[in-house]
Amino acid sequence: MHSFKSTLLSAFLLLLCSGTHVHALDTSSHCGDYDSVTAGQYSLLLDQWGKSDASSGSNCAAITSLNGTTIAWKNPWKWAGGNKIKSYTNMQLNKGMNKGLKTISSIPTTWKWSHSTSGNVVANVAFDIFTSTTPGGDNHNEIMIWLANFSAGPICSSYNAYGIAVAVASSISLAGYTWDLHVGWNGSNNVYSFLPSNGVIITKFSGDLNVFIKYLRGRGSISSSEYLKTLQAGTEATSGTATLTASAYSVVVN
Ligand SMILES: *[C@@H]1O[C@H](CO)[C@@H](O)[C@H](O)[C@H]1NC(C)=O
Ligand SMILES: *[C@@H]1O[C@H](CO)[C@@H](O)[C@H](O)[C@H]1NC(C)=O
Ligand SMILES: *[C@@H]1O[C@H](CO)[C@@H](O)[C@H](O)[C@H]1NC(C)=O
Repeated sequence: MHSFKSTLLSAFLLLLCSGTHVHALDTSSHCGDYDSVTAGQYSLLLDQWGKSDASSGSNCAAITSLNGTTIAWKNPWKWAGGNKIKSYTNMQLNKGMNKGLKTISSIPTTWKWSHSTSGNVVANVAFDIFTSTTPGGDNHNEIMIWLANFSAGPICSSYNAYGIAVAVASSISLAGYTWDLHVGWNGSNNVYSFLPSNGVIITKFSGDLNVFIKYLRGRGSISSSEYLKTLQAGTEATSGTATLTASAYSVVVN
């Protein structure tokens, strides 16, 4: 009895001593179309913007851990019908936005993930970055860095006779991998998509996202006078049944 009481007491003292650093992490599952869960410097965004294209389905996500700037989450989803993207459930960085591209020295990131599927899945696993022409202004350019293409395809202005997106540049060496660059217009902004060459799937990415932005600046695609607006990492889900498990993700804008 005594030891039980003292265990309780020390647990209580531990809580007291850690003071303001004790924040309950919301690890519950969220399924609302635009639910958002903020944890540390991130927000988990359900972002089910294309859901009306589905005949049936569901998409939920939960944060599973947070340690400093390293966060983990799980995103089980299931979509049937339609051929458009239904959801882009993602982890958004809330710190370091609206910086001028010229003033950013690096954007180191690490993303370790796995994907379990049943049947045919059309999806990607990708970073999505937006720039604006004024700090906090409207989205102007979109940069996607895909780590996996599961029978999906990037937005592209040019397709070959087999309906496959044609790259404007191939085998670009950046961040330790080679990439093909696709360019297109999504109705509201230019979209620059880097896909790993030869269908490579990168389940543990560690690199500097700024090298992709610098590459596009060097190519004259994006003006150096633009600003970083949004930086997200997640899965664009079109159809099938899958669970994305992001076991360790971190990103910082320097
Ligand atoms: C949290 O991160 C620190 C620094 O990287 C590491 O030493 C520690 O083991 C981590 N804690 C947990 C519970 O994973
Ligand atoms: C994406 O994956 C599908 C299926 O493997 C493949 O047919 C297609 O060519 C890929 N798209 C690109 C642009 O690599
Ligand atoms: C297209 O543009 C809108 C507006 O900027 C953006 O929110 C959306 O994510 C983009 N869609 C895709 C598929 O990239």
